[in-house]
This record gives sequence, C-alpha cells and structure tokens, in this order.
Amino acid sequence: MSLEQRGRRVLSPVLGHYTWLPIERGEGSWLVTTDGRRILDLTCGIAVTAVGHAHPRVVQAVTEQASRLMHISSGVAKYEANIALGEFLAAVLPHGIDTFVFQNSGAEAIEGAIKLARQVTRREGIIVFRGGFHGRTTGAATLTTSKAAYRKGYGALLPEVHVAPFPYPLGCPIAPAHDAEACAAHCVAETLAMLEHEIPPENVAAFVIEPVLGEGGYVPAPASFLRALREISKRIGALLVSDEIQTAFGRSGGWTAIERMGVVPDIVTLAKALGGGLPLGAVAAPRALHEQWPTGTHGSTFGGNPVSCASGLATLRVIKEERLVDRAEDVGRIVEEELAPIRRDPRVREIRRIGAMVAVEFDDKATSKAVTAAALERNVLLITCGSHDQCVRFIPPLNIAEADLRGGVGEFVTSLQGVREALPA
Ligand SMILES: Cc1ncc(COP(=O)(O)O)c(C=O)c1O
Repeated sequence: MSLEQRGRRVLSPVLGHYTWLPIERGEGSWLVTTDGRRILDLTCGIAVTAVGHAHPRVVQAVTEQASRLMHISSGVAKYEANIALGEFLAAVLPHGIDTFVFQNSGAEAIEGAIKLARQVTRREGIIVFRGGFHGRTTGAATLTTSKAAYRKGYGALLPEVHVAPFPYPLGCPIAPAHDAEACAAHCVAETLAMLEHEIPPENVAAFVIEPVLGEGGYVPAPASFLRALREISKRIGALLVSDEIQTAFGRSGGWTAIERMGVVPDIVTLAKALGGGLPLGAVAAPRALHEQWPTGTHGSTFGGNPVSCASGLATLRVIKEERLVDRAEDVGRIVEEELAPIRRDPRVREIRRIGAMVAVEFDDKATSKAVTAAALERNVLLITCGSHDQCVRFIPPLNIAEADLRGGVGEFVTSLQGVREALPA
C-alpha cells in the first residue's frame, strides 16, 4: 500500500492537502521522494525552512541538543538555548522588543498576544483586518478572515473581535479600480468609522495585523496604512500587534516586515522560520509590557523546548552570518525577473512582491491549481494562497542557488503556457 493509501486510512480528512507526495528526505532546496524523484521546494514547508532542508549547522545543533537535553520545560529549569535565542531575537527585532514568551506554534503565539494585550490594557476589544490569517485555535480562528471556511460551523468564537478592511486594491469590492494608497486611505477612514459606530476606542485592547497578508494572498499593506494604525492605536491607548509569523527573518526583506515600513509595533508574534523546522513560536514585546502580565497566568509545557530553540538559534545565526536578510531582496527580484514572460498573460491579474515573498494572482482557482499541478509534473513544488486560492506563491529558501531558482520559476512559466493552451480563455 502506498503512503497515501495508508495515510487516507489513519489521518483525519479534516486536514487539507496540497499534495500527497511521499517524501523520503530534504537536501537544501530539494526534496527527494521515496521513489527517488528530486523536486525543487519553492514552499519551504509553508515559509518555515528559510535556510533549506537539513542545513548542516542546524542538524548539528539539533543533534547535539537532543543528545544533551530534549526536554525539561522552561517553567521547571533553565537551559542555554532558550536564553540565547531570546538574546539573539532582542538584538535583531525592532527597537525595544526585547522580552519573549516562547510557545509551540503561530496560533499559540497569537493566543498569547491576545491575552497579553487584554491584561495590559484591561480592555477586551481586538480589531483585525479582513483577509488576515492568524491560526486555527479557537481564539486565533476568531481573528482569521482569509477564508470564511476557517470559521464555518465552529459556533460562537471569541467575543469583542471586530474586522476592519485591509488595503488590497485587487480584492476590493468598491469600484472604480484604485491604487494601494487610495485603498489604504479608505481603510483608515473605515477603521475610524468603526471606532465611532461599532467599538468605542476605550474598549480596544489591540489592533492585530499581518503587515503582509500571507495566506490571504501575499498582499503588502502600504507603509502609510501601518503608520496610520500606529498613530490611531497610540492615540486611543490600544496596542499594535504585528503578526510576523510568515514575514519575519528575511522572508519579507527585513528581520520583520513592519520595521521595513518604518513602524515599531508593541507586540510581535513569531513562529514558522523561528524554529528552523521544529515547532516554536514567540510573543515578543518590550519588558515593560511583559512585566504587566501577571506571573503564572500564561505558559506552556513544551513552549521554548530545548531542541526547537537550538534549531531556531542555529537557523537565525546562519541567516545573519550569510546575510540572507539582504539576499531575500535578490531572491525576490530573480523570481520577478523570471516571471517577466507572463506579466502580460491575460490570466495574470497581478504579480506582487515584497522581499522574497512573491505571488502571481490569477482570475480563478482553476488556473492556479492547474499551473501548480503542471509545475509539479515538472518537479517544482509550489502552493497557492488567497481567499479563493487564486494566487500561486513563491517561498524559496533564502540561500537557494540562483540557477535552481531561475530554473524552477522557468518551469512554472512553461507550465502556465501549457495550462493556457489546455483551459478555455
Ligand atoms: C501570519 C500567520 N499567523 C499565524 C499562523 C498560524 O501559525 P501555525 O500554523 O504555526 O499555528 C500562520 C500560519 O500560516 C500565519 O501565516
């Protein structure tokens, strides 16, 4: 029986699958299937393996840590990897964000950020932005609006969560077509109207935003929008939470995306690349905020596990020493260059990029699914995003070889050619 056949018997159908590829191992930018097929991985396991698979320094750090101490729980005793990771993060995150509580995932980091914001402000209201994805635990799912399906059937979610529009001109239902700045101005006005009509400013604990929509379609918010949110949140005494779970550590071209846009948030949520392939998340904020979070009211058995911290620390050191945050810009530019032949393809609505996050938005899901399937036949793994899965996103390792990247994107372009011929225009 194949791995897929066995999996279909024991794994819950609740899990969505981009593919059922049977993977034997990963080597740098490549995956190797159980039957020896080599596939270029332009997904990084959904924006996790920023330095590729099985990076020797990460493997060595994990092996050494596992042989010394696999678990003790950070509430029971202290260990080097946990503290050293905190020190590293304090040095690279936006100014003043120097204190951390480690968690196991992105959704858990979001849960922690909601709890921290509510404790500090003694308010309940959370304002999120339409199209955002913040995770699948009940609290994080309440904040998630990238697809209504993530909320459907789960009954009453968290109270006091309000949804404001996100500046996404192509996804905006308001005609005529307008640019990102006009869209941002409109979204700021809508947010202010919400404070007038829906949730009083003195009830707002936090604004929680992805500075670049991830699952929602790789859509960067204009800096003007983030600056306006910073100003509004300060004025009303609410906190600004930047969900950098997908964007941090070079992916968006900076250590964080929001810092690239000249805005310093109050809280940053981290996960994905943070653990270098092992489960790890963090709620990051200035010490003064963490000091208002009553001791013992939040925590986790596994959060900040020694092996995950060692893996994350080794990964972040590679990113820093190999200057991969700077290289992210080149990686993104190369993808953009190779996509040039399809820029005027009638099915391509837009090609968007920030740092090494690139998306091609199509008219519909039929095209994005057909082109990713065709690319996989050519041994290039890509995944979709967007509220209708209408975008294909490129998430290459930040240290990918230029020839591999150009070749992989070239295969995607060729795949679209085939799809264009197969599907009616
Ligand atoms: C921006 C963002 N926030 C939160 C999450 C949830 O992270 P996790 O799947 O680790 O719970 C994700 C995952 O895709 C994400 O992209």
